[in-house]
Amino acid sequence: MKIIIENDYTSLSQKAAEEISAAIKARPDLVLGLASGKTPVGLYEILSQKCQKGEINFSKVSTFNLDELVIAPDDPKSYRSYMQKKLFSKININPKNINFPPIEPGKFKEFENKIIDLGGIDLQILGIGVNGHIGFNEPGSSFASKTRIVELKNDTLVLRKAATMGIATIMRAKKIILLASGAKKAQIIFKALKGPITTDVPASILQEHPDCMVILDEEAAVLLT
Ligand code: GLP
Repeated sequence: MKIIIENDYTSLSQKAAEEISAAIKARPDLVLGLASGKTPVGLYEILSQKCQKGEINFSKVSTFNLDELVIAPDDPKSYRSYMQKKLFSKININPKNINFPPIEPGKFKEFENKIIDLGGIDLQILGIGVNGHIGFNEPGSSFASKTRIVELKNDTLVLRKAATMGIATIMRAKKIILLASGAKKAQIIFKALKGPITTDVPASILQEHPDCMVILDEEAAVLLT
């Protein structure tokens, strides 16, 4: 694991954007795994600006998002709507090259096979939940899990469902960049990076990935230093 500690959220976002830009320059038809949540918002803003300035070309890039809520794809709360708003509407990506985990059962194998047919995910961006989840792989998820539907409890304790890449799906990515920002992530970052590898902390499996970069800001890294 390569751990990079940036001063703040802005420089964390900048560093992640540089990594993605370099990867697209090296391979214009990059297969890029993307995450939603608050953490990558700054990254997506910088990528949008770089694309608008002609510094990155997404025309041949394919994307696979990590997770999606089981709601209508055009619902404003869907992760597809989030990605459209924060990134896809602002870059020159071909809509045909955008992929989300299917929310209908029976389509998961097709999604996994599509990743394999494109040669695998070259670079996967990840966030981390305060309980160590990656995607919607909550504590207890098998390290062998593939893309599937999981049940989740949202803030109002209403049971909702989501589709997520599995932990095995994520671990097959050739390179992974995990992003974490802010003091509320400090404890889980310490556990995931320095603690035992256990399904109680799904992100701890990243310690075994051959090419995983962790980009943190100082607040998220405070227990490591
Ligand atoms: C969410 C998503 C993850 C995301 C994580 C962290 O629930 N399922 O894909 O990475 O939690 O979110 P945030 O970046 O908002 O802290």
